[in-house]
Amino acid sequence: EHAILYNSTSSVGIFFANAHRSYFDADISQPNMLTLGADGGDLDLFIFPGPMDRILERYTALTGRMPLPPLYALGFQQSRYSYETEEDVRAVARNFRENHVPCDILYLDIDYMHGYRVFTWDPSRFPYPSRLLSDLKKDGFGVVPIIDPGVKVDSHYPVYQEGRRDAHFLTYTNGEEFQSQVWPGMCAFPDFLQPRTRQWWGQQHRTLVEQGIAGIWNDMNEPAWNRGGSGHYGHDNDADVEQRDGITSYSHSAVHNLYALCEAQATFEGLRDASQMTTAEGRSTHLRPFILSRSGFSGIQRYAAVWTGDNCSWWEHLALSIPMCLNLGMSGVAFCGPDAGGFQHNASPFQHNASPELYARWIQMGVFFPFLRAHSAKNTHRHEPWSFGPDVLTIARQYIEYRYRLLPYWYSLFHLASQTGVPPMRPLVWEFGEDRETWDIDDQFLVGSSLMVAPIIRPGTYERRVYFPPGHWFDVWNQEEIVGPSSHLVAAPLNRLPLFLKAGSIIPLGPRVLSTAQQTPQELAQGTDGPREFFVIQGEGHFLVYSDDGKTDQCLHGAYRTINIKVIRKESVTRVSWNPEHWPSEAKMLSGSYLVHVGYYHQAPRRVISDNHPLIQVQGHPNAGQWVWHETEHRISAVLPSMPTPGHSVDLVIED
Ligand code: GLC
Repeated sequence: EHAILYNSTSSVGIFFANAHRSYFDADISQPNMLTLGADGGDLDLFIFPGPMDRILERYTALTGRMPLPPLYALGFQQSRYSYETEEDVRAVARNFRENHVPCDILYLDIDYMHGYRVFTWDPSRFPYPSRLLSDLKKDGFGVVPIIDPGVKVDSHYPVYQEGRRDAHFLTYTNGEEFQSQVWPGMCAFPDFLQPRTRQWWGQQHRTLVEQGIAGIWNDMNEPAWNRGGSGHYGHDNDADVEQRDGITSYSHSAVHNLYALCEAQATFEGLRDASQMTTAEGRSTHLRPFILSRSGFSGIQRYAAVWTGDNCSWWEHLALSIPMCLNLGMSGVAFCGPDAGGFQHNASPFQHNASPELYARWIQMGVFFPFLRAHSAKNTHRHEPWSFGPDVLTIARQYIEYRYRLLPYWYSLFHLASQTGVPPMRPLVWEFGEDRETWDIDDQFLVGSSLMVAPIIRPGTYERRVYFPPGHWFDVWNQEEIVGPSSHLVAAPLNRLPLFLKAGSIIPLGPRVLSTAQQTPQELAQGTDGPREFFVIQGEGHFLVYSDDGKTDQCLHGAYRTINIKVIRKESVTRVSWNPEHWPSEAKMLSGSYLVHVGYYHQAPRRVISDNHPLIQVQGHPNAGQWVWHETEHRISAVLPSMPTPGHSVDLVIED
């Protein structure tokens, strides 16, 4: 359990390292009082002094940081319980491409398996998994199958046979195998606390990796089991179940909360080892694993992204996903998100399929969450972007495209999180803690320190009040300047999510693609050496742009690039500069050109200069050494005449 408490002068982080059922009460039952406790175990308490970024840095130094995920895991992901046949999966993939909606990952929920037996494929519905996965890969899709921890009790099923033979499963205190109901019927449960069981479980993934999967989805890993088929998934009477870590035995109740963490570790290590390969230079490398988990304990960020579990297609749950993910981020879990669009509708007697309006609003908002996946339950309407009619399709496409255009910004923020623990998605109080107004805001958030998102969280709502913390803000839609601290009513027709950029913002942009696997011919020729387009808002700011191969662990051995971009403004002159920081000597030199947009200007600037040479103003599209004035968008676009090289920065100077 991890909590951050703050007041006007300071913040403090509290980590209660205890895997029993535990309790936190901050200021609720008694004002100005923090109460915490647990059903057993030690009072193992860590206290981290603020400010907030230092708390996260220290807390994640202790519990671990999210390793940089593969780039495709930041793209759009589509899931459903379930795409039940190979034909269905192919049709979904085809629809994405025909409708020109970017998407990187498709999920396979439990029905891909043979009778819900983990590590199997249903022979009639998915007869040729390798072929399916390789066809989808050619089209830019990775596939992520679900793996639950429960292993079906079936004496003819090798995973069960082996697990039983080698004592990998949880037992009762009397030594008998513990069994309980989940999807497959009676199941046995691996004891992931044991290192040898983690290794065994990890190895089960080898065939899936060879068949070409892009990651693993770990579900039901609290673990959720249904003792005696009672329909009750609680753990009130699990004291009779035993776990071992190879040295000591524990009652399940004492280590219940570690179950998903240890399973994720096993899965991570299994995927990593199964993808081991050799680089052209003869170095050993592996692919960075992508795992999605429903559950976890402090430290889950080391192995998995976390989604917020089974929500409903309700406005309340759309709204709730904002504070849930902000809190996850402040608890070290930088890579998180909800089931966008809402998962189920049968949690109440009422029908709650996502309405077109809810889906549109949720996708608009969801593209600004670190983890972006749409998922929906059995018996709901289909929830793909084209399922809600042409208007909603247009909105979904526009916002998902926006996500892809911003991927270099996201990737750089993820890199920062992997180094410092600072989450990409932040509450306003994170950046503006000295402003009392920001403390209670949980219906607005920031992506990085520059981009402020103010989602629409109610039906039939086409405007909303937005709070602007101190500073200068620019409305992305109408280029209006807003000076904070202040509140304003902002228009939000269905196709518009209120979005604002702070003065001094620097946003690297990516190409318009349908998948991160798809590169433009220009990029293929040049290698993927980082973004070539930038959006800058005049003011004061800096941003470290990070790029690498997007998939292997070579980045841990220096194979990455960083460019520090700065913007400063003095009197009537704005200067943007690109300074290469980390630039491995064997990396190719940049070729091509940088396209730079700088806003916001009320009138055309007088002169635009780069490296002391005036650029030429033209109409239409600028070429190297030229700039254009976009009057209605209040910005210039310039193409720099030269690219930065190690030890040589380039700049762009704009005189009002
Ligand atoms: C659980 C998961 C959900 C999944 C379903 C079937 O409810 O949270 O995402 O679709 O199980 O596997």
